Amino acid sequence: NKLTAFAPATSANLGVGFDILGLALDAVGDKVTLTKRDDGQIIIEKINSVTGLPLEPNKNTASYALQKMCEELDISCGFSMQIDKGIAMGSGMGGSAASAVAAVVALNGFLSNPVSREKLVEYALYGEEIASGGRHADNVAPCVFGGITLIRSLAPMEVINLPYPELYCVIIHPHLQVETKSARGILKPEIPLKKYVEQSAQLGAAICAFYQKDIELLRRSMQDLIIEPQRANLVTGYYQVKEAALKSGAITATFSGSGPSMLAFCDSKANAEKVTLAMLAMFNKHGIEADQWISPI
Ligand code: HSE
Repeated sequence: NKLTAFAPATSANLGVGFDILGLALDAVGDKVTLTKRDDGQIIIEKINSVTGLPLEPNKNTASYALQKMCEELDISCGFSMQIDKGIAMGSGMGGSAASAVAAVVALNGFLSNPVSREKLVEYALYGEEIASGGRHADNVAPCVFGGITLIRSLAPMEVINLPYPELYCVIIHPHLQVETKSARGILKPEIPLKKYVEQSAQLGAAICAFYQKDIELLRRSMQDLIIEPQRANLVTGYYQVKEAALKSGAITATFSGSGPSMLAFCDSKANAEKVTLAMLAMFNKHGIEADQWISPI
């Protein structure tokens, strides 16, 4: 009557795909252990490693997602949860999504008729929504499906796994906190038509580049003309760090989700190591310490 599930860190947006593109990282992740209880209650027993996360079941992403899944599937037993956070809070690496996904995947393990991956994304999304104040599945979808995903629609839930060339992701997590809710709050709700056209061209070309495994097309098309300029000043030295990454050979360097972490794509492990050092050095120049991960996808 006890089950543990692991869910990986993810990186959302990938520059050109705000709220619709994301990828799974194999660097770190969260674990949730569920133990059945017979009083029908959902209780968070313990959260390791990270402080400041809400313990109230309807405020925590993992317990809220679990609660919604139990409600919709008419599951009447309760669960005690233990959450083991491997992903730092507010890091832009999909921590709130990973806890929610691990919870619903663990519950799925108890079911004699397990639900589909699309359904798991829907349940986890309830949790994500309370954390970020928006319905975006660009972390929960790659977390459940793996690889690089495109979300065509939330209702009905349609997730497409994209092919991709051999890529190494560098994630640099500067020790700054950016809450997704506030990073979403600063975005202008409207886009000028000309920008929309230019951005659609970049997104379309980037998807072609993934399908054709064309690194040079990917390099040219990974341009975020809309979100990056609005969020850049949330991270000290953002453009300098980006430039340092590109000068060292990164294919692209952009925000990971809503930041403050940054994501760089590289075409080899050696290059990823070089880019990591350049990005860290530039953050250090600005007096900012940072953690780093290199993850193949
Ligand atoms: N697409 C979301 C955003 C991802 O950029 O606000 C948050 O991780």
